[in-house]
Amino acid sequence: MTDNIHPSSRSIRALDVAAKAWYTPVLLGQWIFVAYIFYAYGWPVVAGELAEWNDHLSQAYEPGRTFGNLTVAVHLALAVIVHFFGPLQLVPAVRKKYPKFHRWSGRVFVLSVVLVTAAGVYMLIVREIGAWTLRAGFMLQGALILGFAWQAVRHARQRKFATHMQWATRLFLAASAVWFFRVMIMIWFVLTGGIGIDTSDGTGWFIDAMSAFQFLPLVLYEVYIRVKAGSNSRAKIAFAVFLWIAAALTTVGVGLATLGMWFPVLG
Ligand code: HEM
Repeated sequence: MTDNIHPSSRSIRALDVAAKAWYTPVLLGQWIFVAYIFYAYGWPVVAGELAEWNDHLSQAYEPGRTFGNLTVAVHLALAVIVHFFGPLQLVPAVRKKYPKFHRWSGRVFVLSVVLVTAAGVYMLIVREIGAWTLRAGFMLQGALILGFAWQAVRHARQRKFATHMQWATRLFLAASAVWFFRVMIMIWFVLTGGIGIDTSDGTGWFIDAMSAFQFLPLVLYEVYIRVKAGSNSRAKIAFAVFLWIAAALTTVGVGLATLGMWFPVLG
């Protein structure tokens, strides 16, 4: 009975350590993704070979399509800010030690997220890529990003920091959907050998299913905050075990995405 009134300090600690263990490959993996964005899209700008964008993203660059090309450039350039500063916003030590940095990078992050989303919606409408399920999923993700950004800013301004942190975490998870999408696909490859994915053109039923699965991190976060706030020690331990498994899978997914997709050395 006492289990339901006072959670054990061991279970509180276990959940805290497991959450950090899961977050570590997320943070490092997003920085590797930033390196990939520089290499895949930044370097061709320096070299004056913009058509090389198309090696990574179909129809990314088309000669003469000035506004469309600029939109892709804005989407990718600001994605660097989202994936470099975003993960740092959630690190408690950075918030405590450098509160000014947290506030400024938070503002830059939110502004970037809004512009990246607007550019993404435009790219999705104009380029007409992928199945409608996938497009609908991305549109919904875009709407959630804008809603979460508004709530995160609103609660920070009202100095309701506990609620602000929850909305900011939702924003981070939604804004990282592109990244989770790729890591989850690589994990699926390891577990199933790529069932439901046609590697020749990147289609298949699993890719369609990913239009819903891209919301999995958000759903799991809702479970996490309830388990964390609750008084059930067993639920905390069970979720901690789950997070350790997720940490291992995420590490494998990041490793495979790095070597198989972003900096392909696996052939
Ligand atoms: C705010 C968070 C977002 C970030 C950081 C982000 C970042 C990126 C990055 C880095 C890529 C290139 C991926 C690669 O080379 O593998 C990309 C592609 C793309 N993004 Fe976003 N994005 C975000 C949100 C969105 C939203 C909300 C939409 C649409 C509503 C969107 C639409 C697209 C499209 C259509 C592509 C091209 C996908 C393809 O051709 O495979 N993005 N995004």
